Amino acid sequence: MDSIIVRGNGELNGQIPIAGAKNACLTLMPATLLSEEPLTLTNAPRLSDIRTMTELLSSLGAEVSTLQDGKVLAMSSHNLDNHVADYDIVRKMRASNLVLGPMLARLGQAVVSLPGGCAIGTRPMDLHEKGLMALGAEIELKEGYLHAKVPGGLKGAVIDLDFPSVGATENIMMAATLAKGTTVLNNAAREPEIVDLATCLRSMDAQIDGDGTSRIEIQGVDRLHGATHPVVTDRIELGTYMLAPAICGGEVECLGGSISLVGSFCEKLDAAGIHVEETANGLKVARRGGRVKAVDVVTEPFPGFPTDLQAQMMALMCTAEGTSVLEEKIFENRFMHAPELMRMGANIEVHGGTATVHGVERLKGAPVMATDLRASVSLILAAMAAEGETIVNRVYHLDRGYERVEEKLGNLGAHIERVQS
Ligand code: UD1
Repeated sequence: MDSIIVRGNGELNGQIPIAGAKNACLTLMPATLLSEEPLTLTNAPRLSDIRTMTELLSSLGAEVSTLQDGKVLAMSSHNLDNHVADYDIVRKMRASNLVLGPMLARLGQAVVSLPGGCAIGTRPMDLHEKGLMALGAEIELKEGYLHAKVPGGLKGAVIDLDFPSVGATENIMMAATLAKGTTVLNNAAREPEIVDLATCLRSMDAQIDGDGTSRIEIQGVDRLHGATHPVVTDRIELGTYMLAPAICGGEVECLGGSISLVGSFCEKLDAAGIHVEETANGLKVARRGGRVKAVDVVTEPFPGFPTDLQAQMMALMCTAEGTSVLEEKIFENRFMHAPELMRMGANIEVHGGTATVHGVERLKGAPVMATDLRASVSLILAAMAAEGETIVNRVYHLDRGYERVEEKLGNLGAHIERVQS
């Protein structure tokens, strides 16, 4: 298993390219199941989660070809010959559940393993199920698998989500594109990845309005066609790398970034004393001298502060001047990075969904354990500004969401290397 060794050193400077969004790509890929014609995605990120989705789609009979060093995914679902998403694949990655809606719509049946809990929370699928049942699906749980079928075909309906779940919005939206009649999805998620999915589905000739707002209306059509779609920029990778100069000092331009993707996050950086400006090529972030100021953060659905940047923001707050309170409102167990940061000298108290971080002057390197994807990268961010050497173990989580992290950060001047242990 690989580890990453980081030696804290001075400022980071330069440019860093931001990849296509993992979370967008993981919902755009299953959209191929909706059509017999090819769907091609450009600007795809090169990540192990994308390989897992490729494996899953292939197991269903789809063809997925990886072109241009992984940046282009050419997919065809002409011959789907399996409607069972196996536990062995689904357990590796929760986003596998995004094949449920498209398979039901295209094949009238789907059997999808429940993903089970994960380190950050229990993460049930009840909202996906309720939404698809409102469209006419019959769903039964048997031996850990959701068995879904829709005898009379999917029919449009008005669906009020109890919570704006990203995955449920995506699954329902995809299914509704091929349902008979109109579907109205109230309290829908508004994340940029939802807008990207709707844009792709529209280029496949789906009729969707209101994406990016909490009311999405979908007029079902008989069939969807082929399309080519560029994956939106990864706002979480963007926010993560914006924190690199914020933590270490220096000036870094994140290529492909825009404030519209990370508005509430930029407001917090501004309050912390970090300078962010939009350039012709992306976002330039600078911290020149002095400690950052402590700011409080509450995670919320978009456009609020993203839960997927909470761990990285905590790394910044560890050396801020003053005390910050971070409240996690999306996942019930998403502070596992806190004890690891404490091994590096951070002063953090966790009570339920609230972490109080008392900033210290400097962190110290230590061996630490990556517990999940975003936790892993928060430890790397912290380590780049710490005194001495940090070894981050179990970095396979990192490869799920960050492509070539050592190379990208190394190019900015970070001392970071991957070792096989
Ligand atoms: C997506 C993102 C993930 C991000 C999360 C929240 C992908 C592949 N993953 O995950 O990186 O952290 O959005 O922004 O896009 N819930 C239920 N019942 C359901 C569905 C969700 O109770 O049927 C709960 C979850 O347990 C969680 C909350 O709703 O507490 C948010 O989950 P959701 O928005 O669905 O996240 P994902 O789509 O799984």
